[in-house]
Amino acid sequence: MGSMGRTFPDGFLWGAATSAYQVEGAVDEDGRVPSIWDTYTHTPGKIDGGGTGDVACDHYHRWREDLDLTASLGLNAYRFSLAWPRLFTPGERRGREHYDRLIDGLLERGIEPVVTLYHWDLPQALEDRGGWRDRDTVERFAEYAASSFDAFGDRVGWWLTINEPWIVGLLGYLHGLHAPGYSGDVRGEVTVFHHLLLAHGRAVQEFRRSGRAGRIGLAPNLIPHYPASDDPADVEVTWASDGYVNRWFLDPVFRGSYPQDQRERYETLLGPLEFIADGDLETIAEPTDYLGVNYYSPRTMQAVPGDTPWPWRVVVADDVETTGGFTDGVPRTEGGTPIVPSGLTDLLLRLHHDYCGPAGDLPIMITENGAVFGDAPGPDGLVRDERRVAFIHDHLAALLDAIEQGVHVAGYCHWSLLDNFEWKLGYEQRFGLVYVDYDTLERTVKESGRYYGRIAVANELEPR
Ligand code: FCB
Repeated sequence: MGSMGRTFPDGFLWGAATSAYQVEGAVDEDGRVPSIWDTYTHTPGKIDGGGTGDVACDHYHRWREDLDLTASLGLNAYRFSLAWPRLFTPGERRGREHYDRLIDGLLERGIEPVVTLYHWDLPQALEDRGGWRDRDTVERFAEYAASSFDAFGDRVGWWLTINEPWIVGLLGYLHGLHAPGYSGDVRGEVTVFHHLLLAHGRAVQEFRRSGRAGRIGLAPNLIPHYPASDDPADVEVTWASDGYVNRWFLDPVFRGSYPQDQRERYETLLGPLEFIADGDLETIAEPTDYLGVNYYSPRTMQAVPGDTPWPWRVVVADDVETTGGFTDGVPRTEGGTPIVPSGLTDLLLRLHHDYCGPAGDLPIMITENGAVFGDAPGPDGLVRDERRVAFIHDHLAALLDAIEQGVHVAGYCHWSLLDNFEWKLGYEQRFGLVYVDYDTLERTVKESGRYYGRIAVANELEPR
């Protein structure tokens, strides 16, 4: 029981995370306008199982029950996103009033709101005018951010600008797996990366201008990289891929420049990156107050010389068996994602040294970390998701390893509070601490939810 008695810093935030489109439903209510995800999910064949976010977890109506559950677990933070489509129409107050009630409901229950401005639900009207490819969307986002600080900034202490910019470009413009559903468009991908980073910087500027107290930061998904072998070619592409996935976002935000190696790779492919205007990097580098980190899994890299645009591949064992959760001795989630808690420690130490300032004192918040396990209620009504319990234990132990080595971590938000609409993968993949029956919308706290809640209340790691 080596982990017994390992405590977290005082005031640590223990949260669970959701995003608007994944949980709210109520897509036609209170003046909400369509988003790119409504369009995408209603295009036949796009979503596994044909799911849409039309109802999702009905969180828009059941938020009181969900906040009561969150409070009953003992959590003191809740990360959620504002639906831009609910706040898009000038003069429409109902969306704003909804989030007023939600935020007040959190505060009444002693739960700190952690609010994401953009978790992928771009209003379709903006997509029709070019979406994130169009620089004008950046200014529309800055206006939306400013009005959100004005509306909610008196009660929100933790803001996140953009969720996972790399995934937005990768899945939305290169692989056609997420809205708006473009494929093979590297120019679109890189343009969108830049505009999302610029939108982040503009939101930070608007936040400062608002004079609101509180903290603001970016929520990228960050992936620790390891070479598949000690072959120098593998080691080289490991660094190169890190440039694509991590440094392309971290360097401009924290150092005011794009990493030279990756910039050259893009320029070789696309010619001059003319969408990067004078002054943009200063805007992107507007100082932030903390860094959100979404951590799921590492990448193991192997060189594939000559392959373009990326001369590498991510190594995954050929015979990945996902339903049992294990293959080749490497534990995996039911989604096939390798479970590597030590990757979180490595990632945090690296961020601490490379990006958190000379004194390493910029706080980090784990804004997402979680896993797919499909456990359902047994005959006794209990959801015994031991694998999620183990996942939580092992990742929190890895987090403590980083904290004990000096990394300043302000909190941890598990993905997710509820089983919910997992984008392209529909409703098949369950990430929740709370089970959702999609026929009745009944909620059942899983064993992992109780376990996680006890850790939160004790502020101390409990053996599993
Ligand atoms: C992240 C997303 C989040 C959820 C988890 C599983 O990439 O930010 O919305 O889908 O993955």
